[in-house]
Amino acid sequence: MDKQKVTLIKGDGIGPEISEAVQLIFLEAGVPIEWEEAEAGLYCIDAYGNGIPQETLDSISRNKIALKAPTTTPIGDGHKSINVTIRKKLDLFANVRPSKSLPGIKTRFDNVDLVIVRENLEDTYGGIEHQQTPEVAQCLRLITRSGSRNAARYAFEMARLTGRKKITCIHKANIQKMTDGLFLNSFKEVGLDYPDIQQVDMLIDNLCMQLVTRPEQFDVLLLPNLFGDIVSDLCAGIVGGLGVAPGGNIGKDSAVFEAVHGSAPDIAGKGLANPTAILLSSLQMLRYMGLGSYAQRIEDGLHAALSEDIKTRDLGGSASTSEFTQGIIERIPAGNISEKQEQARRIIIPHEPLTEQKEPWNIVGVDVFVKSTNGIPQFAETIGLFSIGMISNRGTKVFPGNVSDILMVDCFRCRFYADTTVNQKDVLELLALLPEEYPWMHIELLQNEGSKVLYSKAQGE
Ligand code: NAI
Repeated sequence: MDKQKVTLIKGDGIGPEISEAVQLIFLEAGVPIEWEEAEAGLYCIDAYGNGIPQETLDSISRNKIALKAPTTTPIGDGHKSINVTIRKKLDLFANVRPSKSLPGIKTRFDNVDLVIVRENLEDTYGGIEHQQTPEVAQCLRLITRSGSRNAARYAFEMARLTGRKKITCIHKANIQKMTDGLFLNSFKEVGLDYPDIQQVDMLIDNLCMQLVTRPEQFDVLLLPNLFGDIVSDLCAGIVGGLGVAPGGNIGKDSAVFEAVHGSAPDIAGKGLANPTAILLSSLQMLRYMGLGSYAQRIEDGLHAALSEDIKTRDLGGSASTSEFTQGIIERIPAGNISEKQEQARRIIIPHEPLTEQKEPWNIVGVDVFVKSTNGIPQFAETIGLFSIGMISNRGTKVFPGNVSDILMVDCFRCRFYADTTVNQKDVLELLALLPEEYPWMHIELLQNEGSKVLYSKAQGE
């Protein structure tokens, strides 16, 4: 069988230790792939000015498949997350994270076998954040119809390909009616093409409770990016911890497989790291590539080692990374000479066409976010072609009506309604007419499409 080239990013922290374990296991199992090593990690910053050099991105684009070990992202200031950069540059729109009970790993639950499909590019991960005033920082949460539909379609296609029967779409559409509402509706629309798959939806808070009481009920979970990130770690904990949670980032043209966990700086270089999560990610990769028979043999070796209580410290054992790796290698069943390329589990989802606007959108008002250090801003009842409708602070309505003694910060959302038909120029005029003592920092138009309202009417009461 011809060898296929795969980009290998060893990362930093425990990354090199656990990726070398995978390399060794693949070598011993005779897996027909050739590694092309590429750099990424904290150590690249001095040499390249960022955590991931262009050559690494080029290598993934060329080979279309990569296995990536974790890389450190400084919290707060510092360079952008390497993972987020890779996902965005290569348009890896879906993150697939199986959570399956493993033999020999005792947890509260025995029969967990679920797969998380997480939208991988949008939500708060655009990093569109601004400090509005000394008091207020804001992050834009972007959910698109195309992105949501892509993730949903991937979940349905994956369910069909792997014989899964039910998808639960997770959201918070009771509160985030527009963003999570769009995610949920996209799931329902795409779901019409898959009547053979059972479709349900659930609020994220309820999901968390159900996961820690009856996780066996779930098959495929579909989530927006941030919820998916958090729930992935929760599900990792349910089946034994971060050391056993694999994942794959899937795009139209390429895929990058990586463990859920991070670079674990607390144990780096000590020989304590558990390579199971990245190994399981690499098996996901082999199945994606049509090398499922190799994946199966390695998985058998892993299960045998775990069942015989050969485990790293995070799983309650005492084996070092290399003793555990050796334990797996010794238990991999012999391969069949006629091992053949199988059907690749590669799902190609074409880009969604953009939605066409059916009717013109009319501006019916504008939310103006202003700074005020003197309490609730005072405006004339009408300014230009607009009238003040309401004002909120920290999402709570403070005008009209009486305000009790609540904590108010220095940024107010002031909702102005148009008294007549208005356009963008009229909005600019409104901004120019606002009292100078309330400088504005951003605005959002309130628009309608025919009778359909395109903004949240919630006033935070
Ligand atoms: P972490 O996942 O690195 O570690 C959390 C805890 O789990 C630590 O106690 C660690 O020792 C343990 N742990 C994680 N993986 C393990 C393994 N394979 N074997 C044994 N124990 C393991 O999460 P943390 O500490 O929040 O993040 C550390 C760094 O990793 C941060 O800079 C973060 O941004 C980055 N990170 C990178 C990811 C990636 O490259 N895919 C994903 C998540 C975090």
